[in-house]
Amino acid sequence: MDHLSRARIARRANARRLYVLYVALSGIIAAQPMQAQSTVGSIQFNPQTKVFRIEAGDVSYVLGINEKKQVQSLYWGERLNAEDSFATAISNAQASSFDLAINTTRQEFTGWGGGLYGEPDLKITFPDGNRDLVLEYVSHSITGNDLTLRLKDVSRNVYVQLNYEMDSATGILRRSAEVENKTMFPLTIEQIASGTWTLPREQDYRLRYLTGRWAGEWNLREQSIQPGKIVLESRRGSTGAQNNPWFAIDKEGANDEDSGDVWFGALGWSGSWQISVEQDPVQQVRVTGGPNSFDFAYRLNPGEHLETPYFYAGYSHDGVGGASRLLHRFELGSILPNTRRPKLRPVIYNSWEATGFRVDEAGQEELAEKAASIGVERFVVDDGWFGERSNDHAGLGDWHVNFTKFPHGLKPLIDKVHSLGMDFGLWVEPEMVNPDSDLYRKHPDWILNFPGRPRTEARNQLVLNLARPDVRQYVFDSIDQLLNKNDIAFLKWDYNRNWSEPGWAVVAPEEQKEVYINYVRSLYSILDELRRKHPLVEIESCSGGGSRVDLGIMRYTDDVWPSDNTDAFDRLSIQDGFTYAYSPGIMTSWVTDSPTWVNNRTLSLEYRFLSSMQGSLGIGANLNHWKSEDFATAKRMVAQYKEIRELVQRGALYRLISPRNGSEHSVTETVSPDQKSAVTFAFLHSSTMLYPFPRIYLRGLKPDAMYRLEEISGKTDTATPVVASGAFWMDHGVDLNLKGDFQAAAFMLKEGSK
Ligand code: DGJ
Repeated sequence: MDHLSRARIARRANARRLYVLYVALSGIIAAQPMQAQSTVGSIQFNPQTKVFRIEAGDVSYVLGINEKKQVQSLYWGERLNAEDSFATAISNAQASSFDLAINTTRQEFTGWGGGLYGEPDLKITFPDGNRDLVLEYVSHSITGNDLTLRLKDVSRNVYVQLNYEMDSATGILRRSAEVENKTMFPLTIEQIASGTWTLPREQDYRLRYLTGRWAGEWNLREQSIQPGKIVLESRRGSTGAQNNPWFAIDKEGANDEDSGDVWFGALGWSGSWQISVEQDPVQQVRVTGGPNSFDFAYRLNPGEHLETPYFYAGYSHDGVGGASRLLHRFELGSILPNTRRPKLRPVIYNSWEATGFRVDEAGQEELAEKAASIGVERFVVDDGWFGERSNDHAGLGDWHVNFTKFPHGLKPLIDKVHSLGMDFGLWVEPEMVNPDSDLYRKHPDWILNFPGRPRTEARNQLVLNLARPDVRQYVFDSIDQLLNKNDIAFLKWDYNRNWSEPGWAVVAPEEQKEVYINYVRSLYSILDELRRKHPLVEIESCSGGGSRVDLGIMRYTDDVWPSDNTDAFDRLSIQDGFTYAYSPGIMTSWVTDSPTWVNNRTLSLEYRFLSSMQGSLGIGANLNHWKSEDFATAKRMVAQYKEIRELVQRGALYRLISPRNGSEHSVTETVSPDQKSAVTFAFLHSSTMLYPFPRIYLRGLKPDAMYRLEEISGKTDTATPVVASGAFWMDHGVDLNLKGDFQAAAFMLKEGSK
């Protein structure tokens, strides 16, 4: 079968599957859009075979207790028939004196001990020097969609609890592990993972992962999985952009974007992390993830627990596109703080690229008036409003209004913004301090550092040690007071450097490396407490762009800033990479000036809008430089965006043509959950050799329903029918008349023939 027919069959199968799912869930969706509900999930235990079956969505996850009392993975993939049975798990035989059984038995969670050479989930040093840990199943409990397995070391009172929670709607599993020290002595955890995922035995796996750097985040890369280990990680103290804690594995050569088996996962952790993908001596692939073990130690005193971050993973039979769509639904339905009352992202204006640090009352009011005139709903003042901040050398840490710039505080500006019908947002970077600040002059010891050693500055700033209770309190109080004193609807929470010299001098040397855990927990607790005290305030996670985007921070934030690179063409690749792991519904995207500061590239305003309209739309241009026709275009595009916003932010995304690898084209389509409407964005880099723009084959529509095509930015070929069936749009496709350099088009399909 040729590639095209396979793709068509996949398109139809996807569309049918989506529709069946929609019909099954439509009652729920109507009541509470995107909310995960326990409709089709179950956890079964067979006491005879000691086999657990966790099933939800289209997924079965099966594990068993083998004769060595190890927790063994038995199956993870497409949902099986309820009648299918599994025999009791049996550990692998020792293949040779070099390949001990512990290395080839597919365990869910291994202690380092008993001759394990692969990546352990847990490595402990006991005070007597013993470093051997052999975990055995003790008991379990099942409550609703949660399974808890309790393990214990063969001789010492170290317990490990493995927690599994299945999301009924998507089949995505959430795992964590909790270690409890019930011995009489402190022990040191040197490595701890949330768990290990084992894939079905296959030789031709391909790993996809995300990599990048400042202003160049979200590059999708792939490599085949060979014997040995691939490590994705951050040692930076926070998530980082060099790798993002997400992976997807499929079968090389057998998959395309929307068909084939894919196993994928993401860590919910905003500190240093690692995910290792390892092929063992008998060609089994395992994925182990959790906090990074580099420079790590955690002292666990008698009676204490340590719970890992969550590691989420899922399976899709609809290619990496299907995997992304499951993740998007899961994030919107189960991760974001407002899952119970999902809110669409407003259209924002942000001052950063227009005024930099030169923010003041009159200038911001002028911008606010212009922003309101094009339909902006939220006005955000970025960096520069506080302390002695006139550039990046001073002010961080002093979270009081700069009275030279705002002589009467922020109130007059906020009132003005409200009077224009917008709400008000403010930039903060609470975890940082400039040495030139009152805070640092008062508390030079509050930063991460090794006393007497150099303190490396980046962007002239140092990192406050949030693991310290006094620092945590200061940070919380500063932001709390800011929110108490001002009517602020939104905080852009920035973080503009990574760690260096991560010393924590005031605690005992054997506890200092706990900073990797305690800092992040403290950050989460600040965000959590702020959210509880100020439930209407929304928060954006920004880290000089997309350096802190992960499922951990996402539990406390409403959207993210994916990159400081706002060039609308570069942004197509950035957004493409971003959506492999994260929902376009949280992806803030600004329309900025042209030529861009990034590449000095000139792009039409309409092109810039269409690029940004694929996420959560914002405007970051200097409106003082706009002509009246720019305002007219912007007003029209903002109004168009509001029409399609729910679709873009909540729909199912299909990456039809990827802008990666020097592609001349980029096309995305988003289909509404009820499959009644779809929006398509298409971009041409540069025409060459008279080649036409590739025909666009839509996906995810109902084959038998009729859809009407409506132009947003009209470029469809004159032969295109106005009304045609879903089958026509998917199988015949749409031709666009895009020619030239940096051209863009967008159109909608709406069910109905009128
Ligand atoms: C980095 C952010 O990514 C930018 O959008 C802007 O907020 C600057 N920081 C301000 O310092």
